[in-house]
Amino acid sequence: MTEIVSESSEEQTRGVWEMMELLNIDVLEEERAEEPEDAPQAPLSKNASRKQRHWERTLAARKSKRREEKRRRRLNRHSGKDEEEEDTAHHQLSKRAVKAATRERLAEARVSGLKVCVDLSMSHRMSDKETSRLAAQLRRLYGSNRRASKPFRLFLTSLREDSRLLAECVRMNDGFLNYSLERTEQSCLDIFPAESVVYLSPDAQEALERVDGDTVYVLGGLVDESVQKALSLSRAEELGVRAARLPIDEHMRKTPNGKNFHSKILAVNQVFDIMLAAYDTGSWTLALDKCFPRSKGYAVAPQGHLASSA
Ligand SMILES: C[S@@+](CC[C@H](N)C(=O)[O-])C[C@H]1O[C@@H](n2cnc3c(N)ncnc32)[C@H](O)[C@@H]1O
Repeated sequence: MTEIVSESSEEQTRGVWEMMELLNIDVLEEERAEEPEDAPQAPLSKNASRKQRHWERTLAARKSKRREEKRRRRLNRHSGKDEEEEDTAHHQLSKRAVKAATRERLAEARVSGLKVCVDLSMSHRMSDKETSRLAAQLRRLYGSNRRASKPFRLFLTSLREDSRLLAECVRMNDGFLNYSLERTEQSCLDIFPAESVVYLSPDAQEALERVDGDTVYVLGGLVDESVQKALSLSRAEELGVRAARLPIDEHMRKTPNGKNFHSKILAVNQVFDIMLAAYDTGSWTLALDKCFPRSKGYAVAPQGHLASSA
């Protein structure tokens, strides 16, 4: 009932508009008809004729706007859509397009992307709480990869099918088993030759110089609230592969903060974000500036003011 009333009042409004338009034209035409064709015209002053031209232009613009508005309403009536529906359809279309583009980027990454493994062989060392936090970090890491313009080819290695970690990932992360990545019980060295692997560890001597496509980067899948020092460095030694740290000392300096807190140990997803940005921009300064958490008490240094000299 309400709909019929509002529809007919809309019709009425439209009718009034159309009448007014007709009247407008009639009035103008009547005015013109009343003037004898050859009646002497009083010459207009410069100012008056400028105003008249302006008025004529305004009238023409209003008329064409009304005509365009009418045409749009007619089209909408024919397609049975209102503006809101049109917006929703447009929004859904662009959402679908974004999803398709993401799927395509990830599929391409699985063929030719830079290879990054998250080594989950140490997950039995974590408490239940740490395991849950690692599951959440893996979700964020995967989300970053999905959004990245150049996503990595992602491997979750040494992830046992019967592990607490896998159960927690499935419980906490929607669609985990369908993530576009490779999940395996094998270790990274069962898949890649040792010479191509660099294990990232905050305790390594060597700083990573660049992120390059020929190297396989391994991150330790660890959350250590009760810090287990140098675990990833020991794991790299056990595997017999190169270890490297992020070049924090080379590009950053300590920032003063109330607690005098400074830490170079990041969560696995934060390191992953820095790697993505460094690969994308080719610049450690940009990557660290964008992704290094401020709460860790470091900031990118102006030249000559580095963490190592602080
Ligand atoms: C929370 S950290 C684990 C810290 C742990 N104490 C260890 O021995 O590695 C998780 C992982 O992120 C990576 N990571 C964290 N900070 C890093 C840094 N400054 N440089 C290189 N890798 C880092 C390492 O791969 C590390 O295993």
